[in-house]
Amino acid sequence: MIYVTRREVFSASHRIFNPKLSDEENFRIYGKCSNPNGHGHNYILEVTVAGEVDENTGYLIDLKLLKEVIRSNVIEKLDHKNLNTDVDFLRNKIPTSENILIAIWEQLKDKIPFGKLYSIKLYETENNFVEYRGE
Ligand code: NI
Repeated sequence: MIYVTRREVFSASHRIFNPKLSDEENFRIYGKCSNPNGHGHNYILEVTVAGEVDENTGYLIDLKLLKEVIRSNVIEKLDHKNLNTDVDFLRNKIPTSENILIAIWEQLKDKIPFGKLYSIKLYETENNFVEYRGE
């Protein structure tokens, strides 16, 4: 088994809050992440595909192809968007890194043309990231 990873970046804004809670409760749980007018991040997304090397091409998956799959299904829908309001696949979700990442998995899992989706990672800051493997 071999693992191929493509890194993509996008910029987006969000406000972390639970609409079922009061502003005070939201502020207690989420602190400044819950400021009413939101804030932005330069997110890094890493997508890892697992599989076997094709004897004819020497590739598991052509990285140009993987790039196109990630951009058309995920990055174009998230880049320069408000994650609370602008993204169909995040509707009614609190846009934490965890929830964003699980939703990205759903967008990508059936679209990988060679090998299979193995792991995705989302970096919200240099020091904080989450990883998901679909279970
Ligand atoms: Ni944030």
